[in-house]
This record gives sequence, C-alpha cells and structure tokens, in this order.
Amino acid sequence: MALKITVIGTGYLGATHAAAMAELGFEVLALDIVREKIEMLERGETPMYEPGLEELLRRHVAGFEGSSGRLRFTQDWAEVGAFGDVHFVCVNTPQKHGEYACDMSYVESAVASLAPHLTRPALVVGKSTVPVGSADRLARTIAALAPVGEEAELAWNPEFLREGFAVQDTLHPDRIVVGVRSERAETLLRQVYETPVAEGTPFVVTDFPTAELVKTSANSFLATKISFINAMAEVCEAADGDVAKLAEAIGYDDRIGKKFLRAGIGFGGGCLPKDIRAFMARAGELGADQALTFLREIDSVNMRQRGRMVELARQELGGGSFLGKRIAVLGATFKPDSDDVRDSPALNVAGQIHLQGGQVTVYDPKGMENARRLFPTLGYADSALDAVRGADAVLHLTEWREFRDLDPAALGEVATDRLILDGRNALDPELWRKAGWTYRAMGRPTA
Ligand SMILES: NC(=O)c1ccc[n+]([C@@H]2O[C@H](COP(=O)([O-])OP(=O)(O)OC[C@H]3O[C@@H](n4cnc5c(N)ncnc54)[C@H](O)[C@@H]3O)[C@@H](O)[C@H]2O)c1
Repeated sequence: MALKITVIGTGYLGATHAAAMAELGFEVLALDIVREKIEMLERGETPMYEPGLEELLRRHVAGFEGSSGRLRFTQDWAEVGAFGDVHFVCVNTPQKHGEYACDMSYVESAVASLAPHLTRPALVVGKSTVPVGSADRLARTIAALAPVGEEAELAWNPEFLREGFAVQDTLHPDRIVVGVRSERAETLLRQVYETPVAEGTPFVVTDFPTAELVKTSANSFLATKISFINAMAEVCEAADGDVAKLAEAIGYDDRIGKKFLRAGIGFGGGCLPKDIRAFMARAGELGADQALTFLREIDSVNMRQRGRMVELARQELGGGSFLGKRIAVLGATFKPDSDDVRDSPALNVAGQIHLQGGQVTVYDPKGMENARRLFPTLGYADSALDAVRGADAVLHLTEWREFRDLDPAALGEVATDRLILDGRNALDPELWRKAGWTYRAMGRPTA
C-alpha cells in the first residue's frame, strides 16, 4: 500500500515538501501550530513567495477543482499520529537570542507533541537543520514517549533546497542524504524518494551524526566561498584590481568553479548566518572549536560587507553625513525570487543609512510586505522608478532580474544624481555608464 506522509511545520521548507510529496503521489497531511498558515494553505495560498509553489499546492490541496485532493492540513496531533507512516519534521531552528547556539525548542516541542500519538509503526524523519547530536537525543525522546514502542523510529534527512528554486530542488534534488539506524528506515526512505532516485539523484546513506554534519558543513563551505571572494574584493580595492575579472579568471579552474564567486554585500537569510554560528557553538561543546575558528572570520568578513557598502555610499556622496540625502534602495529580500527578509543584507544597509539620517526609499518586487513589517520607519515605493525619483544615489542590493532589466536612461530622467552603487556586482557597468551614470561596485575600479 502507498505510504502516507505527514509534514510538521509548513514554512518555506515544510510547505514545499508537503506539496512535493503530494506531487510524487503520496497522501499527505500537514500540520502547523500557526492557524493562519494552515488556513492560507487550505485556500491554496502560500504564506511566502516561492516561484511555482502556489500552482503546485493548488494541484493537490483537497477542495480545488481538478486537484488530486492528496494534500490536507490539520492542527490535530492525534490525527497526524493516526495517519502517517512517515512523519517529516520541518520546523524552524533559529539562532538563540544573545548567543550563537541553535534554538532547538521548536524541534523538541514538535517531537514531544507527536511522539505520544505514535500508536502505529512509524518513521519520524527530521529535516530541520540541527546541531550534530540532536538526532540521537530526539530518538531517545521518541523511544520514551511513543505508545508503539520500538516500532516508532527516527531518521535524519537534511534538506538542501534553495529559496527561489525550492520546488525544483525538492522534486529534483541534487542528492538525498539519509541518516538511519535500521534497514527498515532506509527502505521506507527509498520508497519515499523512489521517483527522484530513479531519475538519477544520488542517495547517500549515513549514520545520524554524519547526516547532521553534511548540512552544516555544506552551508559552511558555501559561506566560505562567498566570504573568500568578498575578502578578495577588499584586496582588489586596496590594490586597484578588479574582483569581477579576478572571479572570472579563477572560476575557469574547474577545481574552483564559477558559482558563488560574485563579490558584494554578502550572504544573509534564515539559514547561512545562523547555521555557521550554531556549527561553531556546537563544535565548542564537542571540544573541536579550533577546527571551526575560521568560520568566525568568514562571518566577520560577511558582516563587514554591509558596513563597507554604507561607507562606499557615504564616500560617493561626498564623504560627509547622510543627512538630507535621498537614497533609493533596490532590493529588500536576502536573495532574488523570494520574499524572505530574514537577516537581509539589503535591509541592513538600508537601515544603517536611515539611522544615520539618510532618507531611504526601498523597492522590492516581492519583499515589500515583510520589509515593512521589519523596518516600518523606512520609506517604500511601489516601483523601482518611484524609488529612484529624486534620489541622490541608487543602491542595488538584491540581484532581481527586474533590476538588471531596468532602463538606466529612463531612471536617469527621474534621479537627482546619476549615481548607481551595485552591491551585487550584477548590473552591466557599460550600460549604466553609457546612460551617464557613475557606476561603482565593491572591488571594482572606478571607471
Ligand atoms: N528556508 C530554507 O531555504 C531552508 C533550506 C534548508 C533547510 N532549512 C531548515 O529547515 C528548517 C525550517 O526552515 P524554514 O525556513 O522552513 O522555517 P519557517 O520559519 O519558514 O517554518 C517553520 C514552520 O514551523 C512551524 N512550527 C514551529 N514550531 C512548531 C511545532 N512545534 N509544531 C508544528 N509546527 C511548528 C512554524 O509555525 C513555521 O510555520 C530550519 O531548520 C532551516 O534551517 C531551511
């Protein structure tokens, strides 16, 4: 009989995973503790912007004309326990307030709520990003609380989806990693992922700690690559080099590769920053902190870029204060094709300039609502053109396609000064300079 799947936590990861599981043909029941999220999802609306996700939901959410009806939602833990053969835990694991460590309370609470309802054989599969050692502890919670006893088991299956590509990444992952303690757990997960594995996705079977570490080490590697090129941008600036050319040239070496080598204001979002900090904190607990001290430098290179962008703007505006200056900020989300503004470098830069007296007007294609909620005192405009109207400087801080497609001549008509600062090294300098703009970017020569 086909497996029945539940998904616990319907945020960026869980909502996508639930819809993808329905797309793969499974009956899915998803739970979240936030009622409004569940109500939205039941209406076929996503609580976040993710390309293709709403369409996927509507193909499967029960109640839509023509939908498969395979995806339902609930807030009832007993219903979840009674329904599922495989339960995916997809709740948030943020940074603890005031320290680097990961706040595991949401995962712990979800597992503690679920376990007493495991009255039939079930596999609980953790997908959240957690400190190494968590799965072992959670397995003991399940063993202590599940009425079905040993027939309830845990596995760890870290998630590598990228916001903006979440649907594609979930349906066609580049690898599937499962930390398991039994053949039964592996067999169940092979059944769940039968379709992508048949398409050629590698299926890597490990123990618990390795599965947990794969995720945090992958994020640490990516963070390192970004901070590496940003450090090179700092050196290029000091030496009058061009970091874009440097990145192109080193990227031809296929041991290095071209990806993630665009210098700019650095990484942010709900994952990379908190994951590398939690990794350092956990390594400290394990007595392996020396191995990860380099991540402290990666973090500090990254955070420094935001301040460097503010200073570049100040310098290009004459070196004095931002008082009375009008600044257009293009981009609010931490990356394009998402509405996620968690720890967004763009909003951080906008906020710093605002706090220093600049009149900041932000425009973002999808992140306006979230940005307004987080930074209500910034100015907001309904279009890039409106944001740029009257601006003394334009800061390009999130690399949306819409911004690459802007017409510099048309923007030049409405700006007070034609000064564009490209915080993502993603615009075409020639195009902007031809339209009379002064183009500046981090790690690039002035002309
Ligand atoms: N967003 C990504 O791109 C991404 C990628 C890979 C891994 N991850 C990891 O996945 C996890 C979830 O991330 P996210 O971005 O989806 O977070 P999110 O905040 O968007 O979603 C988490 C959801 O869990 C719900 N929740 C919290 N406690 C709960 C509980 N006890 N029971 C049921 N639901 C509960 C919240 O209401 C929320 O809807 C994190 O560990 C994150 O690091 C995220």
